[in-house]
Amino acid sequence: MLGDFIKRTGKAPIAVFDSGVGGISVLRELIALMPQENFYYYGDSANAPYGTKGLEEVRKLTMDHVDTFIREGVKAVVVACNTATSAAVRLLRLKYEDIPIIGIEPALKPAVLSKENPNVVVMATPMTIREEKFHNLMDRYTHMAHIIPLPCPGLMEYIEHGDIQGEELLTFLEKLFDPFDKQKLDAVVLGCTHYPFVSRELRKVLGEKVALFDGGEGVARETRRRLAEKGLLNEETKNGEILFVNSENTEEKIRLCKKLLALPR
Ligand code: DGL
Repeated sequence: MLGDFIKRTGKAPIAVFDSGVGGISVLRELIALMPQENFYYYGDSANAPYGTKGLEEVRKLTMDHVDTFIREGVKAVVVACNTATSAAVRLLRLKYEDIPIIGIEPALKPAVLSKENPNVVVMATPMTIREEKFHNLMDRYTHMAHIIPLPCPGLMEYIEHGDIQGEELLTFLEKLFDPFDKQKLDAVVLGCTHYPFVSRELRKVLGEKVALFDGGEGVARETRRRLAEKGLLNEETKNGEILFVNSENTEEKIRLCKKLLALPR
């Protein structure tokens, strides 16, 4: 399918990869910044969730998928999944030195800098929070903020099923934040690319005062910078095309991807 897409459009796309539909929150930022590019969005919903799996399994899934994208001719890869990034991005960069590989990590820096000595909760998958990459990130900022990692197993499933609002989700989120005094929270980092899609429901739980941060826009800017550096930006002015593929291979999943992409940012 990717081969035909490249042949038909005559342009190498940027691959955007996630364990499911969450990476659409990054894709929409990429499109906003580089509308003229072609994108190949691949969601591995058949193997989701990644965040409750072991490191080796996620590493292998990610490496295998990215190997295929590159073999078929993409010009860059955005790993639009915090979990897959922590498992594999370092190895991918070693393997593909000449191809821009951009990963995502929880947007802790802007959250920490948003206020003096803030209380910051980082929502992410159990694996992202367990991995060394996150510990190193946290170590960089612990002297400037009170940082509380919050693993959220079970949350991505709501978004995967298209349930981005409603009572059940709201109850889930309320339970998650039950142990916190919300009055004392300053910022919440959405450290999984699925979570921006439930930010409206999160707002209901957290109130208006708590600032929400996600890494999508930063990844888009970094992708543009890396492409420009290599002279790989598409200079045409007409809008590019998007190909959606999902390992679950159902019409429903593709429909959900398009629906999520059409939501206001
Ligand atoms: N979207 C993925 C992330 O950013 C995780 C979802 C999963 O557990 O598969 O971490």
